[in-house]
Amino acid sequence: MQFMQAIWKQARVEKRRIVLAEGEERRNLIAAGKIIENSLADLILIGNEENIRNNAKEIGVDIDGATIADPDKSDKLQQYIEEFYEIRKNKGMTLEKAEKIVRDPLYFGTMMVKMGDADGMVSGAIHTTGDLLRPGLQIVKTAPGTKVVSGFFAMMIPNCDYGEAGMLLFADCAVNPNPTAEELASIAITTAETCRTLCNTEPRVAMLSFSTMGSASNELVDKVRLAAEIAKKQRPDLDIDGELQLDAAIDREVAALKAPNSPVAGKANVLVFPDLQAGNIGYKLVHRFAKASAIGPICQGFAKPINDLSRGCSPEDIVNVVAVTAVQAQKCN
Ligand code: ACO
Repeated sequence: MQFMQAIWKQARVEKRRIVLAEGEERRNLIAAGKIIENSLADLILIGNEENIRNNAKEIGVDIDGATIADPDKSDKLQQYIEEFYEIRKNKGMTLEKAEKIVRDPLYFGTMMVKMGDADGMVSGAIHTTGDLLRPGLQIVKTAPGTKVVSGFFAMMIPNCDYGEAGMLLFADCAVNPNPTAEELASIAITTAETCRTLCNTEPRVAMLSFSTMGSASNELVDKVRLAAEIAKKQRPDLDIDGELQLDAAIDREVAALKAPNSPVAGKANVLVFPDLQAGNIGYKLVHRFAKASAIGPICQGFAKPINDLSRGCSPEDIVNVVAVTAVQAQKCN
């Protein structure tokens, strides 16, 4: 798990304030203990203080190093309600509705990040992906120049020479069900940036399809080809190419036959899937059949980092997602 070791090391360099919005929940509390013990972040636990302390005591976790924020008792509540109303008033938000919504831990935590009272947020052990993403998309929004938020997995494949000695980034596997060519181009560029900033590796991005460089003709292929053109035009400094079939993207011998002039083919370390069905199925195939570690989905493209957990997550998963969020927050500054 070289990727996570590097992330842990980096997270400790300059600690960031990370919100755990499900602060009363057992796995979050166990994770909080480990995060504090390992100095990975300065934690803010959202919830009722008495419940948080009682639950932590019951499971024998020391959370003394964490800050507790109870939305109902917070002296920031009124400011957050007014600011949330300002952000959403042109979408039909009223002060009365804002008053109720901002008390929700996910909205309160997102407002903390928006207002600079925290550097990032992690949630999703008991909420759905949509529950977490919606406040993020409405309040924090995308980073400047980024069209969409998306989700990537860092795949670590044992006994494999593809990518960077078996490590590749897969995107979008979590957010955009059917991206347009412009959105797909944005996902490719954002994932390339992620490869640089989180993996310290120069990206080689393959835009995947069932066709390689015009071998098939179909509107689905046209979308991927156009996305590759847009991405290359927007960021000529990045190695992005497509459309490529998976084998041409990762295997040098196939690449030599199918795409001999591509700067990416045969050595891609970032795979961009044409839609969410392909991305989600793709990462699960590699995870299951190749027994690969799949770290994620990690959200990318937010102006400030907000990350989702699987509802089946373990405390260790939460620790790792918090560490990644802390490193993303360092790179935001
Ligand atoms: N990037 C940036 N902004 C976005 C994005 C995006 N990808 N998607 C929506 N938005 C914006 C909209 O423009 C809108 O902005 P506005 O209200 O200021 O005008 C706001 O977010 C809300 O958009 P809606 O379309 O109303 O929100 P919706 O209810 O459709 O939810 C969501 C968006 C949650 C991302 C939805 O597309 C979704 O559920 N995606 C799939 C998530 C999923 O199930 N993933 C699989 C999980 S399994 C796994 O991760 C391994």
